[in-house]
Amino acid sequence: MSDTDKLVEDIQRLREERNAVLLVHNYQRAEVQDIADFTGDSLGLSRQAAQTEADVIVFCGVHFMAQTAKLLSPAKTVLLPEKDAGCPMADMIDPELLREFKAEHPGAPVVAYVNTTAEVKAESDICCTSANAEEVVRSLDADKILFVPDQNLGRWVARHVLEKEVILYGGFCPTHHDITGEQVLEVKRAHPEAEIMAHPECTSEVLDLADAVLSTSGMLRYAQSSDAAEFIVVTELGMLHPLAVENPGKTFYTITGAICPNMKLTTLGSVRRSLADNVHEIDIDPAIAEKARRAVQRMVEIG
Ligand code: 13P
Ligand code: SF4
Repeated sequence: MSDTDKLVEDIQRLREERNAVLLVHNYQRAEVQDIADFTGDSLGLSRQAAQTEADVIVFCGVHFMAQTAKLLSPAKTVLLPEKDAGCPMADMIDPELLREFKAEHPGAPVVAYVNTTAEVKAESDICCTSANAEEVVRSLDADKILFVPDQNLGRWVARHVLEKEVILYGGFCPTHHDITGEQVLEVKRAHPEAEIMAHPECTSEVLDLADAVLSTSGMLRYAQSSDAAEFIVVTELGMLHPLAVENPGKTFYTITGAICPNMKLTTLGSVRRSLADNVHEIDIDPAIAEKARRAVQRMVEIG
């Protein structure tokens, strides 16, 4: 038996013993996606976390995602296999910075991208993901809205929700923000028939070139329903795995260097250790959790 087969066998045994569910983000390593109970985008995985009957959730993704799962399933044990798997965008805002931002625009409700800490969510009115940001902003009964922390997603929403003023915070995802229009055009010149799917964390320069702007799971649905045979995938390159598995007849091209190092920290070895040693358990201060949960639940209820 190969080392990988042995690891997978151990993980299967441990997850049965612990009645655990493995939630895995679309950017994770292929071998981790392959052992998932559910793969998905931030919104889909939040919904799975809220519904699961398992005792333990192993969240293969980054810290804010595991925290969101804990907020939605407070009675369950939520494990993040690699404790250093953070999100630099989430770290660009903290409660103090958010309070200062709010003080500059008194009375305006705050929409927080789920890529934030529980402390920031606790200071916000409602959360959103890349899959529902426009819907969430439209749902608010206010003319002026503060959107944190992703300036690119916020700008994309502002361009579509013209009836509201969306005030942007300056955060960004380094993995997406660094992709240039020229990089996308270079791939397009080599594959002129390919459709361009881009994640809304990219800059406007890149999004203006796209045929479709989508969350990661939105890309999976789009690629399946489109008649195109080739696609340029403008997001983290882990997306290639689920796209290729679900669309064997289609070809996908990525952007060189579009990698999120935090998403790649989790390995089969860390998943096994997580289940065996109960690490790293997510714990949120109850007073913070109560407020943060309200913002996440309000989003989940939007449908
Ligand atoms: P999705 O919700 O679209 O999967 O995006 C999460 C993320 O972190 C993108 O960088
Ligand atoms: Fe954060 Fe960007 Fe990595 Fe997503 S891809 S987890 S936004 S750093």
